[in-house]
Amino acid sequence: MARHLITSAIPYINGIKHLGNLVGSQLPADLYARYLRQRGHEVLFLCATDEHGTPAELAAAKAGKPVAEYCAEMHDVQAEIADGFGLSFDHFGRSSSPQNHALTQAFAGRLNALDLIREVTEEQVYSHTDGRFLPDRYIEGTCPNCGFESARGDQCDNCTKQLDPTDLIAPHSTISGATDLEVRETKHLYLRQSVMKDQIEEWIDTRQGWPILTTSIAKKWLTDGDGLQDRGITRDLDWGIPVKNGDQDWPGMEGKVFYVWFDAPIEYIACAQEWQDVGKGADWERWWRTDKGADDVTYTQFMGKDNVPFHTLSFPATILGSQQPWKLVDYIKSFNYLNYDGGQFSTSRGRGVFMDQALEILPADVWRWWLLSHAPESSDAEFTWQAFQTDVNKDLADVLGNFVSRITKFCRSKFSEAVPDGSYGPAEKALIADLTGKVAQYQAHMDAIEVRKSAAALRAIWVAGNEYLQAEAPWSTIKEDPEKAAAQVRLGLNLIRLYGILSAPFIPTMSRTMLDAMQTDDAWPDDVATALETLKPGDAFTVPDNLFSKINDDQREDWAGRFAGTRD
Ligand code: 2FM
Ligand code: ZN
Repeated sequence: MARHLITSAIPYINGIKHLGNLVGSQLPADLYARYLRQRGHEVLFLCATDEHGTPAELAAAKAGKPVAEYCAEMHDVQAEIADGFGLSFDHFGRSSSPQNHALTQAFAGRLNALDLIREVTEEQVYSHTDGRFLPDRYIEGTCPNCGFESARGDQCDNCTKQLDPTDLIAPHSTISGATDLEVRETKHLYLRQSVMKDQIEEWIDTRQGWPILTTSIAKKWLTDGDGLQDRGITRDLDWGIPVKNGDQDWPGMEGKVFYVWFDAPIEYIACAQEWQDVGKGADWERWWRTDKGADDVTYTQFMGKDNVPFHTLSFPATILGSQQPWKLVDYIKSFNYLNYDGGQFSTSRGRGVFMDQALEILPADVWRWWLLSHAPESSDAEFTWQAFQTDVNKDLADVLGNFVSRITKFCRSKFSEAVPDGSYGPAEKALIADLTGKVAQYQAHMDAIEVRKSAAALRAIWVAGNEYLQAEAPWSTIKEDPEKAAAQVRLGLNLIRLYGILSAPFIPTMSRTMLDAMQTDDAWPDDVATALETLKPGDAFTVPDNLFSKINDDQREDWAGRFAGTRD
């Protein structure tokens, strides 16, 4: 038994996430956590809401609520939806927690004591009407390069030129439209990442077998342009973690907060403290401090590719810079993007299916299965309603659901609601041998967190059972050889149990239904032949309700229209 710490990138608080977000971090993290728990490992699986930053402030203002109240409400909304998707976090924390405040301030104090923080005076745009400094992307104006009228303060989307807000002609605030902007001096803290470049590069080089996507992004940031740059870790905002030097005030930093990307990954650690403080666990340092037992923990992070630089460079710079024995990540599993029906999912335009809407129309397992079996691992992937309908109808209804229903109903009508007696012959033994190889392959892919390959391997296990049933046809056998038919059915019922166990990381609810119907335990099959002898003649079972109803064309068309855009 090993110990596994698993974190999913923590979703921003402002708004409900779409399915592209889900499949890029939380869902595969849950798949892995569930699998490792089933294999008997000790797992701590953490996630939280990422609550700071300008978008949170603006979303609260739009909702007409104080930002703290808005965040508290949205945290509960996200927690409930996560629960609806069966995301089995040991704790779903909040980056605004007191634990994260204290820890973030402690990290800053420590980094400062080690001379890894410097103060920088810079010029930034202040909006009188908004009463705040404006982040670059909230300033728009005409591009000096191409004349495009809606160029942002950081970049022109038309000609892609990188811009400074002061380059824009006729700039205005996108929050209020105000033009009474002024360039003001303001002081900020910078983390001196540049002096840690070699140390970080060496650390990345020691990470064996990371996905290419992860390493290539990290390397690009280390070597492109001027390499690893010092990074501003404070902002002129009201909402966030107040800048402090440990528990002391930081002269000159009054009224400022830490940058959201400084405190968000620290929440991975603070979340374990929250988990302990709410009474769900104990000894959080055993997971996070290598001097307190965490040196035998394997730590895996899950995230979309846009998050990779922060997890391969910035967060490690915080940890390594502190020179304290914090656990560093062992494996970073990153994902490309899932696109939606010929374009991108878009939160701002409400394009695509959002997590709450998904649960309104179909059970979580249906989404879990499709999304995981199409996880954007080696390249971007695309959701289309046509593919979704075809795939889930085939995999979940024609293959898995049909198998379960045929065997159980046949047994009930020809024998009884108990496992019949009959000994396995050559066809059964051949299937067991085949499945032994297939289960080993499934496990190998799951161990390697190869999500799509794992789904394909699991599907192949379901298909093998279906093909066996098709070929052996107990409904014909029973006419000449009832005992042989009984053996076929006994194997079929044991296969339902096996499927229930193996499929649980992907489709936990359907799996539970299968296992409950078989009235059995869920011990992982160390040996497939033994596992397929678990249900003994005479053991009672029930015929489960239909596992999954097919999606029809009317539903598909209706949903395709409904989710084409404009959510609000
Ligand atoms: O991209 C996002 O959704 C970010 N909120 C992820 C943050 S992950 C972290 F905590 F570092
Ligand atoms: Zn331009």
